[in-house]
Amino acid sequence: MTAQPSARGDVAVVVPAAGAGVRLGPGAPKALRLLDGEPLLVHAVRRIAASPSVAMIVVAAPPADVDAVHTLLSAVAPVTVVAGGAERQESVAAALAVVPPELGIVLVHDAARCLAPVSLFERVAATVRSGADAVIPVLPVVDTIKEVDADETVRGTVDRSVLRAVQTPQGFRAPVLRAAHAAAADAHTDDAGAVEKLGLPVHCVPGSDLALKITRPIDLALATHLLTIPDPAAPPA
Ligand code: C5P
Repeated sequence: MTAQPSARGDVAVVVPAAGAGVRLGPGAPKALRLLDGEPLLVHAVRRIAASPSVAMIVVAAPPADVDAVHTLLSAVAPVTVVAGGAERQESVAAALAVVPPELGIVLVHDAARCLAPVSLFERVAATVRSGADAVIPVLPVVDTIKEVDADETVRGTVDRSVLRAVQTPQGFRAPVLRAAHAAAADAHTDDAGAVEKLGLPVHCVPGSDLALKITRPIDLALATHLLTIPDPAAPPA
């Protein structure tokens, strides 16, 4: 299911949305769970489509739901929907495969971070455009972090001042992301991890509290409240 790239930007956003979401409890695939009456994926795509840099959106959906997801999202924005894979990185690779070479910047954004604001997409895209190979939005780590043994005995305390919690969208020069995926033999939980393995620098920019990953039931409750907080960079409704 393909929609043509538009001329309005230089960015393709790849949205892995094929996960089951078992940590949320039984129910639909995570991206199709409802937040304020709409699937997480609809919230995510609405914000992506409102980002001026974005020319193309590619969603990797659960294979059984490709047609339904295309129908669902076509009412929100022009999207291309592909079948995702068994692992997140396979879903990203399947979506990346349909991004045309003329789009020089690719952002990878988890559907589970469905409230990531327009301002965050624009910040990440702008940093790639200004010359970075790979860009990740990060937040400082607020909890004290302990390293533990298998029996849950504390081995030591990690210096949290050098730690960052990493969000999406993560942005890349398209050839760098393609090379990283081609070279990545082992599993990685984020795409910047594959770029790190190529030995290339990954640049951090400030993340957003709104870009929390909806993983546990309590995250849905928090996200329902966050929906009432406006994104200062969003176009007027
Ligand atoms: O499982 P996790 O929360 O890390 O998933 C992050 C994102 O990757 C989610 O948006 C999920 O739908 C997506 N994913 C995917 N294909 C998989 C597993 C996860 O697209 N096989």
